[in-house]
Amino acid sequence: MSVLLDIKNVTMRFGGLVALDDVTFSIEKGSVLAVIGPNGAGKSTLFNVVTGVYKPTSGRVTFDGADITGKPTYEVVQRGIARTFQASRLFSDLSVLDNVIIGMHTRTKTGVLKALFRPGASRREMAACVEKAETLLRLGSGDLYEQRYRPAGTLAQADRRRLEIARALASQPKLLLLDEPSVGMDDTETDALVADIARLRSEHPELSVILIEHDMRVVEAFPERVMCVDYGSLIAEGGFAAVRADPRVQEAYLGKAATHA
Ligand SMILES: Nc1ncnc2c1ncn2[C@@H]1O[C@H](COP(=O)(O)OP(=O)(O)OP(=O)(O)O)[C@@H](O)[C@H]1O
Ligand SMILES: [Mg+2]
Repeated sequence: MSVLLDIKNVTMRFGGLVALDDVTFSIEKGSVLAVIGPNGAGKSTLFNVVTGVYKPTSGRVTFDGADITGKPTYEVVQRGIARTFQASRLFSDLSVLDNVIIGMHTRTKTGVLKALFRPGASRREMAACVEKAETLLRLGSGDLYEQRYRPAGTLAQADRRRLEIARALASQPKLLLLDEPSVGMDDTETDALVADIARLRSEHPELSVILIEHDMRVVEAFPERVMCVDYGSLIAEGGFAAVRADPRVQEAYLGKAATHA
């Protein structure tokens, strides 16, 4: 197996606060990693560092053999990393379909000039985009495809989360980062989410996924590798059962009033 993402000694400071403290790990192509940890542990910061939202104070991020430390987000997306956000960031006034098409912009050839001077080529590319977007909307559970002309802001919470994933997939990523995808979902919706992720992995065996989750129902479904972060440090790593049983992990959750867990 070859390494897709390699994080080496990454530290991220915000003033006096150390959000990530000398974090080192790597993930292989086609693997799934679940990241758990109490509120404020540094999980989302990890995604922000990987996707170039923040440049780490020190350390290195290597993706698919290239150093991407602090590279701008558009370049990171172009290289093959896509993410969803903990708090949904859809364009709520745009249609469901348009939200997915926007996710494709790093993979389309037509720029503004080309659209003006070669409208035929641009129209053909647009038609292909619509078709691809519709395919993505048909993939997951739920009925996003039937709702494709609705403004995204009018979707139910679970559908919004699903749409975020469809939009991330539109950039044809090699690595998909999901930040608490089950937030706002009930148990049935969460089970459907798990099934969607599992199907995605079986259809794209090369795709790697990092999943930040508080819901152990989801983590348990992807038990092969779990990492627990606390105060910016990796405190445990291994299979789900071993990490859950780790006294440091229990302490981290219990010690913080266990708002989730
Ligand atoms: N831009 C920023 N400026 C200052 N502090 C920040 C910034 N981003 C994150 N932090 C701080 O870094 C720490 C880690 O935050 P982060 O959002 O990564 O936690 P998290 O593990 O994702 O938590 P949660 O489970 O609540 O989403 C927190 O103390 C947070 O307040
Ligand atoms: Mg977070």
